[in-house]
Amino acid sequence: MASEVSQNHIRVRDLSVRYGSTRVLNNISIDIPDKKITAIIGPSGCGKTTLLKSFNRLIDLQEGVSVSGQVFVDDEDIYDPKTEITHLRKRMGLLSQRPQVLPMSIYENVVYGLRVHGEKSKEKLNAAVERYLKEAHMWHEVKDRLHTSAAKLSIGQQQRLCLARGLAVGPEVILGDEPTSALDPISAEQIEQRFLALKDKYTIVLVTHILRQARRLADYVVFLYLGNLIEHGPAEEVLNNPRYAKTKAYLEGRFIEEPEIEKELDLIKLTFPESLKALEKVFKELKVGQVLRIVSGEKNLQGLIRSPLVAQHTVLEIKKRDALTSEVIMQKNEGGYSI
Ligand SMILES: Nc1ncnc2c1ncn2[C@@H]1O[C@H](COP(=O)(O)OP(=O)(O)O)[C@@H](O)[C@H]1O
Ligand SMILES: [Mg+2]
Repeated sequence: MASEVSQNHIRVRDLSVRYGSTRVLNNISIDIPDKKITAIIGPSGCGKTTLLKSFNRLIDLQEGVSVSGQVFVDDEDIYDPKTEITHLRKRMGLLSQRPQVLPMSIYENVVYGLRVHGEKSKEKLNAAVERYLKEAHMWHEVKDRLHTSAAKLSIGQQQRLCLARGLAVGPEVILGDEPTSALDPISAEQIEQRFLALKDKYTIVLVTHILRQARRLADYVVFLYLGNLIEHGPAEEVLNNPRYAKTKAYLEGRFIEEPEIEKELDLIKLTFPESLKALEKVFKELKVGQVLRIVSGEKNLQGLIRSPLVAQHTVLEIKKRDALTSEVIMQKNEGGYSI
């Protein structure tokens, strides 16, 4: 799957989000592949929900929130003032942690969006109810009680009903914010099965803190920690062969430690290959196991990452400081290097 070429449905560029003066997302740049399942993983409070809600502009309606950077959905910049939010929301269905059924019948829940958009034909509404309850795999459970209250359903059925209601509006993207966390294991598995069945037709973005769920479902994984994007890539790479120390620690259930920085090197004013020379000099002075923070502009960074000097040592983390500047945190390995 990793080698498969696929288009990106959502592109995030240098997205930062602040609640008041607290920055909760830091210069995030990622691509969400089309018609695949992307899992956003990371410990509680690291910004997963905020990132997910930035995709359909559910965050910037709150007071005190400031958003910078860009999010493109099908090449449309959704933070452009000209973007119509209602149209955007119609393209994205959202499943929350707890199912939010409307206080009406099962039938009316499914057709709610269609009615809002002016659909009056009884035939079309009936057909939609059957079709989307089937897509949500619950038609056989409820077909004889469509006009009873949705609130009477089990919580697992309510979540599948919310899925049916979302699908009925004809979205391109399904966003799920820990959509199985309130469910019993069997209901959770039914939702997981739906996602696997639906991914041929929809781009699915799933926030989860359950690593096993990410392993079962994800084609692509985004790992966030304290508002920073630590690592992202094809699921089998990130989950089985992570590049960075923080990802490894998280996957192994270990405490994520901030490395103690012993030396700092500012390369902002240098260009490649002068930057590499400066790096070689500092690296020679560094002892095995010590950690160096390199501050670098984007152009230097690309050259540095490809240099053998960097490849021979451990890159603990690459952090974006702002749109133009990155920090590379490196640790000197045993054996050193030779020029
Ligand atoms: N409306 C809000 N106002 C202020 N702080 C918020 C708000 N929503 C979330 N936060 C804070 O932003 C951080 C990220 O939250 P969130 O995106 O919900 O993380 P996650 O989904 O990974 O648990 C947390 O520290 C949280 O307390
Ligand atoms: Mg959350």
